[in-house]
Amino acid sequence: MKRYKNASELYDIFYEKRKEDIVFYNGIVGQYKSEFDNNRVIEIGAGTGRVLLPIAKAHPDLEFHAVDIIGDEIEVLKEKASYAGIKNIVTHVADINEFQSKEKFSFAFAPFRVLQHCQSVADLDRMLKSTKELLSENGRFTFDLFNPWLHMMVKEGVVFDGNYHDREGNTINRRVEINHRDYFKQTQDIEEYYTVKYTDGKKAEFEWLYTTGYFFKDTAAMVLEKNDLNVDNLYSGFDRRPFGQGEYPGDLIFDCIKNKKGLSR
Ligand SMILES: C[S@@+](CC[C@H](N)C(=O)[O-])C[C@H]1O[C@@H](n2cnc3c(N)ncnc32)[C@H](O)[C@@H]1O
Repeated sequence: MKRYKNASELYDIFYEKRKEDIVFYNGIVGQYKSEFDNNRVIEIGAGTGRVLLPIAKAHPDLEFHAVDIIGDEIEVLKEKASYAGIKNIVTHVADINEFQSKEKFSFAFAPFRVLQHCQSVADLDRMLKSTKELLSENGRFTFDLFNPWLHMMVKEGVVFDGNYHDREGNTINRRVEINHRDYFKQTQDIEEYYTVKYTDGKKAEFEWLYTTGYFFKDTAAMVLEKNDLNVDNLYSGFDRRPFGQGEYPGDLIFDCIKNKKGLSR
């Protein structure tokens, strides 16, 4: 009988159906790789490899580096890569702001709101500066944020509560609460609680508590520009609809090129 050791081992169960971002980022790699200066790609905040693994498998000619600050996430990623026989991934447990590499990367990506972990504009500036330094001369950087949804930003208490089942039939409850927001700092404290009910009646509980920031389009665009990361495309959804089209709030997806002057804003 499987026993979960930490919250990272549960992550993929919650996001099994989330595929549209994988298709989007894989499409970006496929579209631009002929323009890459070298074969090196880095994922910032790679987590369990939910997005990275299918992309690395689809592009065996590229070398993928997975960076995450949480060791348990990278452990899950490594185990999955080994099980799937994917060999073109190098893993690193590191804060991206501390991570250094002599060789630059042609493409960096940060799927599923990684930069939301920046708790201020200064934090965002630091992370974008770190990213810029890792990129080759005209490297590309693509990432998504949530588009701050004003109706959601005033909700307090339980914002999500749902049950999932793993392959062995165990039930996992995921409950997300937001009990504190700082509207001056533009931060919110997220509390995620997971309860596993095993088929033999045993129970396990895990939690993941963290604070995130939120950024509106123009703030993020200006910090990008400050760091010579020029916005080439700005999308509202993983189907590549331009920002502002489709239903509010949509996503906030930046596709940038280092140094080259693009659309910026
Ligand atoms: C929502 S998860 C996204 C994981 C993965 N990209 C995906 O799409 O499933 C955000 C990840 O960013 C990582 N992260 C946050 N701040 C980081 C930092 N400063 N350096 C490296 N990783 C970071 C977290 O540990 C977490 O695994």
